[in-house]
Amino acid sequence: MAMSYANDFERVVPKEALRSGATFVSEDLRTLQKSDDLNPAFLWVIQGEALWKKTEALPSGVPSESCASCHGQSNLSMRGVSTHYPQIDKISGELINLEGRINLCRTRHQHLPPLVLESDEMLGITAYVAMASRGLPMNVQIDSTNLEYFRKGRNLYYTRMGQINLACTHCHEQNWGRKLQGETISQGHINDFPAYRLEWQRMGSLHRRLRACLSGVRAYMFPLGSSELTDLELFLAWRSTDSKITVESPGVRR
Ligand code: HEC
Ligand code: HEC
Repeated sequence: MAMSYANDFERVVPKEALRSGATFVSEDLRTLQKSDDLNPAFLWVIQGEALWKKTEALPSGVPSESCASCHGQSNLSMRGVSTHYPQIDKISGELINLEGRINLCRTRHQHLPPLVLESDEMLGITAYVAMASRGLPMNVQIDSTNLEYFRKGRNLYYTRMGQINLACTHCHEQNWGRKLQGETISQGHINDFPAYRLEWQRMGSLHRRLRACLSGVRAYMFPLGSSELTDLELFLAWRSTDSKITVESPGVRR
């Protein structure tokens, strides 16, 4: 059962007290994250940059357009874009995250097959696009078009789950700063995703991270790209909107 709040926008942690997940990791990891030369996530970013410029053969034999042929330089055209995801796609009316948007461009505009979620290509291109917003605060506003999804995400956030019977709020709002199995629990923000995680020995998406938290409490792991995880992502994006937390993708985590 979800805890009830008087209004949809009530906060447990005040906006002024919000801190990026990067402030909770060890100095070593912070040093890696700060340098684009040392950050292991750049092995994926390089692939993302190559994909941005790449054309692929269409069934007709004609080359597809590349991301760059429509969007030009990512640091200009993609500046600020990741801060307003998840968002409603106007054509389908569905809530989509950045990966979802990229796949819509693949299918709608490039006439190519969608990228496989969690593939090196998808992680690389997502990080490459997200990076163009480094230094900017999240900017997800809730209005009549996305309120229903926001409520679902918020409800999930405050619902006890799994054999361990804990909700997201119990760890990330009520016990942040405490240690759990050698790790400091952060406030659970999304500004550094996709991120390289030592435990995975690779880059991973936000949805993969959320599934790891669900697995931690022995709860059902909603599939990558599912509406449940995207609703949750919308709530998380709203939570840090207009705070001092800024986009820092790609992060480095334990
Ligand atoms: C039992 C405690 C616990 C619960 C419950 C839990 N998490 Fe986590 N979560 C962690 C730990 C530990 C980490 C890794 C350290 C960190 O960054 O907080 C983490 C990491 C995260 C991160 C990555 C933060 C970053 O900056 O790298 C996000 C986002 C997150 N959790 C969201 C959630 C959401 C949403 C839920 C509910 C579905 C949830 N967590 C439930 C313990 C928990
Ligand atoms: C043929 C032109 C075309 C190509 C090629 C294309 N896009 Fe797009 N892109 C668009 C259009 C048009 C939109 C506006 C949304 C829509 O109509 O689907 C858009 C929107 C986007 C957005 C969202 C921008 C925002 O402000 O929310 C992102 C991110 C994006 N594209 C990334 C990519 C990536 C990455 C690729 C390559 C994998 C790509 N696009 C290839 C035309 C294209």
